[in-house]
Amino acid sequence: MKSIRIKNQNSTILIGESYKNISNYLPEKKCFLICDENIYRNYTQFVEQFDYIVMGCGESIKTWSSVEMIIEKLLDFGADRNSFLLGMGGGLVSDVTGFVASIFMRGLDFGFISTSLLSQVDASVGGKNGVNFGKLKNMIGVFNPPQFVICDPILLKTLPKREIRSGFGEIIKHAFIKDENLFLFLKKNKENLLNLNANLMEDLIYRAVSIKTNVVENDPLEKGERKKLNFGHTIGHAIENNSDLTHGEAVSVGMVLASKLSESETNLSHSDSKEIKNLLEDFELPVATNVSSDIINEYLVKDKKKNRSSIDFILLNKIGEASIQPMAIDTLKSKIISLIENQKTNC
Ligand SMILES: NC(=O)c1ccc[n+]([C@@H]2O[C@H](COP(=O)([O-])OP(=O)(O)OC[C@H]3O[C@@H](n4cnc5c(N)ncnc54)[C@H](O)[C@@H]3O)[C@@H](O)[C@H]2O)c1
Ligand SMILES: [Zn+2]
Repeated sequence: MKSIRIKNQNSTILIGESYKNISNYLPEKKCFLICDENIYRNYTQFVEQFDYIVMGCGESIKTWSSVEMIIEKLLDFGADRNSFLLGMGGGLVSDVTGFVASIFMRGLDFGFISTSLLSQVDASVGGKNGVNFGKLKNMIGVFNPPQFVICDPILLKTLPKREIRSGFGEIIKHAFIKDENLFLFLKKNKENLLNLNANLMEDLIYRAVSIKTNVVENDPLEKGERKKLNFGHTIGHAIENNSDLTHGEAVSVGMVLASKLSESETNLSHSDSKEIKNLLEDFELPVATNVSSDIINEYLVKDKKKNRSSIDFILLNKIGEASIQPMAIDTLKSKIISLIENQKTNC
């Protein structure tokens, strides 16, 4: 087991720790477990040790109504300011649990058992939580870190294959923006990683979490460096919202397009750009989209963070090194049109 303590956040990520050892980490408080239906179904016996609340599944339930439902159940259970919330699930459960814990009776202590690959390497670190508001993603929420996050790779055995690939998309992103050695590690071990080899997965999750932790420690409120974690996300979110791709799959396409753009804007070499696409394909991730440039461009202007005339777009100088480039929205829109056109000829 490896642990990473996040500076200034009183938060520890435990990688490779068994979720069954949870009692070692819970404070002497009344604890309520929050999970979704899939976690309840797969881990019923474990969940039922606690007073528990089950949410539905999927992004459509990441809403204020779910927050109200959980608060009502907590009140029924007699939860008070001294209670502890334990979120067990992927990023959706942790975002909602962290948010409820932050506002219920002005704030409860909370922790997570992180059950999806994406949440282990991404949502578990950084203290962001919240719910969607209508179509606007993560519109309501706060920064507030959990006391601990248990990332037990054994939990990934019940995670659907497509969700595994989605998590790899986010890990590969960490390699592209910050760590060429991680890129080489992924390239070398792709088969064993796709088969969820326990030791390799522990190592991989540790490396990915270390990268995100480092970035978050240096820029907790996303004023600068942390923006690099959005590599592939500007276009990725537009694709995710307008297709049936998962988050990691959409980000994969977004990364391919952003690296193509990097070739002209930041002189990313053509061979690095090709390696990027190849690695994503090795991990069975999509590298092209049917979503039209019109739809992507329309989303870019609507997106809540982009209400200015320029966007801080994340590009790569080389594999392992990203840069933040402010780009005029009109320029970006015309580049997206040609990227989507060219993707047809490059496929
Ligand atoms: N707070 C952050 O910094 C942050 C970062 C990235 C993503 N997110 C949020 O996280 C969410 C996406 O996270 P996700 O991909 O984990 O989605 P998710 O929580 O919806 O999980 C994906 C699916 O896998 C199922 N699942 C999860 N773990 C399982 C397991 N061990 N066995 C069987 N089934 C399992 C879930 O029930 C769900 O159907 C989004 O809402 C996104 O906004 C937050
Ligand atoms: Zn992401």
